[in-house]
Amino acid sequence: MIATVRRARRLDGDISVPGDKSISHRALILGSIADGESRVRGLSTGADVRSTAGCMRALGVEIDDSVVRGVGMRGLRASADALDCGNSGTTMRLLAGLLSAQKFASELRGDESLTTRPMDRVVAPLREMGARASWPPLEVGGHVPLHGIEYRPSVPSAQVKSAVLLAGLFAVSPTVVLEPVATRNHTELMLAAMGADVKVEGRLVEIRPADRLSPLDIEIPGDLSGATFWLVVSGLVHGSHARIRDVGINPTRTAVVDLIRSCGLAIAVNSVRSESGEPVGDLEVGPASALRPLSVSGGMAAEMIDELPVLAVLASQLPGTSRISGAAELRVKESDRIAAMAEGLAAMGADITALDDGWVINGPRPLEGARVHSHRDHRVAMALAVAGLLADGTTEIEDADCVEISYPGFFDQLESLC
Ligand code: S3P
Repeated sequence: MIATVRRARRLDGDISVPGDKSISHRALILGSIADGESRVRGLSTGADVRSTAGCMRALGVEIDDSVVRGVGMRGLRASADALDCGNSGTTMRLLAGLLSAQKFASELRGDESLTTRPMDRVVAPLREMGARASWPPLEVGGHVPLHGIEYRPSVPSAQVKSAVLLAGLFAVSPTVVLEPVATRNHTELMLAAMGADVKVEGRLVEIRPADRLSPLDIEIPGDLSGATFWLVVSGLVHGSHARIRDVGINPTRTAVVDLIRSCGLAIAVNSVRSESGEPVGDLEVGPASALRPLSVSGGMAAEMIDELPVLAVLASQLPGTSRISGAAELRVKESDRIAAMAEGLAAMGADITALDDGWVINGPRPLEGARVHSHRDHRVAMALAVAGLLADGTTEIEDADCVEISYPGFFDQLESLC
């Protein structure tokens, strides 16, 4: 599908966003191994989360509507076929951890993009724990019990941390992960809410082996990564006043909000509350003050890794030189996001230079509609759509249907809001 986007009118009113993708994956995976039925409302309807649900069903778990019928920690059954993770790195890496600790072997497959993404980062620690694990193709499990390790990943990755913690849950001794930069902590919060023995001290997480997990009863908050597209559009389009309700504002995810504010955009966080240990609030975007360039470097990039493509769009509209570095991980996401965004934004008239680990962007530059590529990457497609909303003329985005991965209905919502 080719999506056509034109300059946005001012945004006014309420916006809702899909359920948080990271929390949705974890609710399905951990709910599956709980003792009894979990109630999970507001699950992301994106294709990535549907991939996780498909894999858990293939492993013998019943999932319908908002109920996950947990089979207990020893109740998963081998799948007759390879498990299809689709485009989802989170599905593949988290399940690699869980399945490495099972008595049976599993093969995990993905689409063309996922097949080329690095999996040695989970295979190495799982092997260190005594698991059978090899890649490519990704095959894990069939050699238990595992033993706990102390692991220091070289790349900050919540997926790697979570894979090791899930395996650690089944090990015979405690497991420690010490990250270079603290990453999103949804796995730790959910495990603790389910009764697991998890201790967190800064960048260090320790998990002790468990026999059982209690079922969940959770309302998944809206996805802050999805909300960021609207924060940028409503922050930049003069006269807008948008409210995004029920968004997850876990502090391991909100660095992006602080960064956007530091550029002069006004975002208020109201009605803060807690939902199964996850903080939730309403975001309100008001009139911007004097705009300033943005700067992301070092460990900061890991804290807002999924939002960096749309931050590049924001930077193109800010005065002065914005610099985003420390983000080499963007090269191994669903596409090479550094190259994809540099290509798309340059075609629209931005002054952007790709670095090995980010971009240098001089602004503000008026954007012109152009025909651009999503590279079949949902976040690139949506970031370029935001650029299209800020541009003169018409922007056409190729292979735009990939937004289904995390944000089904994105273009319909864009049409009705803008
Ligand atoms: C995720 C972690 C991040 C992020 C991805 C979701 C998760 O990946 O980019 O969209 O749910 O754990 P990495 O752990 O590879 O950085």
